[in-house]
Amino acid sequence: MTLANQVLQECESTNDIAKRLAEAGCPHGTWVSTRIQTLGRGRLGRKWQSIEGNLFLSIVVQITQPQTMSWIPLTTGYAVCRFLRKTFPTLEVQVKWPNDIYLQNAKLGGILCEGSNGYIVIGLGLNCVDSPEGIDQSTTSLTHSIGGKIISADDIRDGIRLEILSTIEMLQNNGLSNIRHAYEDLSVFQVGEAVEWGDGQNGIIKGLGSSGELEVILSDGTIRKLFAEDVKLRRYSLSSL
Ligand code: BTN
Repeated sequence: MTLANQVLQECESTNDIAKRLAEAGCPHGTWVSTRIQTLGRGRLGRKWQSIEGNLFLSIVVQITQPQTMSWIPLTTGYAVCRFLRKTFPTLEVQVKWPNDIYLQNAKLGGILCEGSNGYIVIGLGLNCVDSPEGIDQSTTSLTHSIGGKIISADDIRDGIRLEILSTIEMLQNNGLSNIRHAYEDLSVFQVGEAVEWGDGQNGIIKGLGSSGELEVILSDGTIRKLFAEDVKLRRYSLSSL
């Protein structure tokens, strides 16, 4: 377990290391972080650009309550938002379904959960010192948002890790009712809002289903369950009203 519970200088992907640790039987809560990540992965097969100074952290979580497993990604997103709001009270950090971390309509961080055999590896990338450019969405960083003070991964790594673990413990011990409401309070998407996804499909948000999926109402009244799509708020143009 030589790479467990430490900040490495460089690696390809902390999620890969954490998965190897999990397969070797490491305990719940084992983590690995790195200063430079050369092959960081994002959701939906994307690359995660890893700028030095930002946070790259993976945590191994043992699943004790399989029925709550599908809520681990959403719970992690909520925990990260909660920690950041407590630490930086001026920042209205939100979670964008399923588990992007958002600030003023720009992406501040993302979460990639991977796992099998009773464990999940939670991979968190958070823009602390800077945010990548040249990607198809707006991005921001903590340092940019706070203005004037450099916030680096070292300032928040331990706090975020402990908040994620305690929130997951709450989910596994108490069930999802509290987490669901807390998540909905910090969500970019609110019930009744128009959203679009995929190739121009659209609908109105109904809420979260029992597995954490996003339920939307289509124009013919049927309900569509979205599990992993990229969803965005639909901005009506005058011609579409
Ligand atoms: C997303 O697409 O929004 C999720 C990004 C997750 C990136 C993190 S960085 C630490 C961990 N290691 C990886 O290779 N990916 C995750």
